[in-house]
Amino acid sequence: MTTNAARLRPGDPCAFVVFGAMGDLTRRKLLPALYNLQAYGLLPKDFAFVGVARRALGDEGFRDYAAAAAHEVAGGSAAGAPQAGFTARVHYVRGDFEDPATFEAISAALAHAAREHGTAGNAVFYLATPPSEFAPIVRGLAGAGLDRQDAGWRRVVVEKPFGHDLDSARALNRELTKVLAESQIFRIDHYLGKETVQNLMVFRFANGMFEPIWNRRYVDHVQLTVAEELGVEGRGGYYEQAGVVRDLVQNHMLQLLALVAMEPPSTLAPEAVRNEKMKVLDAIRAMEPEQVLRDAVRGQYGAGTVGDKKVPAYRDEPGVSATSQVETFAALKLQVENWRWAGVPFFLRSGKRLARRDTQISIQFRRPPLLLFEEMGVEQIEPNRLDILIQPEEAISISMKAKRPGPAIVLEQVKLAFGYSQFGSLPPATGYERLLHDVMIGDAELFHRADLVEASWRIVTTVLDVWSSLPARDFPSYEAGTWGPAASTELLARDGRRWVNPG
Ligand code: BG6
Repeated sequence: MTTNAARLRPGDPCAFVVFGAMGDLTRRKLLPALYNLQAYGLLPKDFAFVGVARRALGDEGFRDYAAAAAHEVAGGSAAGAPQAGFTARVHYVRGDFEDPATFEAISAALAHAAREHGTAGNAVFYLATPPSEFAPIVRGLAGAGLDRQDAGWRRVVVEKPFGHDLDSARALNRELTKVLAESQIFRIDHYLGKETVQNLMVFRFANGMFEPIWNRRYVDHVQLTVAEELGVEGRGGYYEQAGVVRDLVQNHMLQLLALVAMEPPSTLAPEAVRNEKMKVLDAIRAMEPEQVLRDAVRGQYGAGTVGDKKVPAYRDEPGVSATSQVETFAALKLQVENWRWAGVPFFLRSGKRLARRDTQISIQFRRPPLLLFEEMGVEQIEPNRLDILIQPEEAISISMKAKRPGPAIVLEQVKLAFGYSQFGSLPPATGYERLLHDVMIGDAELFHRADLVEASWRIVTTVLDVWSSLPARDFPSYEAGTWGPAASTELLARDGRRWVNPG
């Protein structure tokens, strides 16, 4: 278990090698996150950055590029610019990821880093590449002996998407574990790095008052929403192979669900926490095909207005087929079949081009058993609800009824609320800082384990299979800037429930 003292110390000395160094992720997230870690005093003093990409560039050219990356996000999520000493530790290796010579060059760069920057033979290999490159890179690392840990530790960070379906995820896990031990593999999920997501465990397990009511006896249902205003933002080519279930539900949302539904772990050791998450995913019954038709809703956005901006239909986005069947919206009703949750539906929904950006979890409690006030002609009593707002607003609130002052009994919905702004302004962050630091100290709690990834794919497989065999006849099925297709509202209305929409 990682102690707070270790979290407050810089990571272990290491070389940080990024495959796909000229890509969007490196420029927008990884470099700024490393600069932020440096600003927080958490980047090891003995550090080197090695960018690997195909573009013809030397160390100097890449140093300029890395410095510019900081300016681009300055004032936003990054602290600004790399501080003194960072740039001199930046190196570049040009090469093809399938060419053994590339890995020999990386080996030389690591030897140089150990000599000049004191990285002690430790190395992080970050695969910020398209998924088709993951297996060839890992084979290349093994071919050059770069996976061997005799001189220092070697860790590999694998970005999403991790596989395209259950079979390809299993095949990728097999490829990785042929070469690497599971403890060397860090399958990253940037949702788990969000402060508000990290707070879920604290909220549930550091407060005694919620756990006793966190079960089927008191909870009517749970809602998880990840709504985006953004469309596919120039990633049409990728999105055509993905869709929202692969892009967001299979990974980020099922992790959120696991954090909400899991049993308290016996300790905070990474394996103890991951074991509890695994039990939740295991308890989610995969849908039968006829259930998919009833409990899964898909949608695709047509043209519309988001905020005050007119936006095109998904099928008119660059790189998207004019007859695309890819879903940009999904809503699912899942059941966690264990003693705590049997009979409590978990409703998940996510979509692009929705009315508002909003990631939130709502725990809807049951109605009071005695409808005392309804007998007095007071309108129907809304049950209590706990909302955990993850972004853009970061807050937790409980909705409840209170008597409005006055002679008559008039009940009003009020909120008990906590906002993260109460902690004052937070240092700038990209959301990757904690995750990168965790890799440098070897803590895998916030990363997916092989079995967790496979269990998540198992849950969504029938949905994807049924949808791919039955083309949607109603696409586009929702106007951009709304809350998705009417069928999503009906999914809850059928049981007398409704989505919690912000605003
Ligand atoms: C990524 C998806 O994993 O998460 C994107 O590939 C999505 O399509 C993004 O926009 C959402 O992340 P966030 O942190 O903005 O909610």
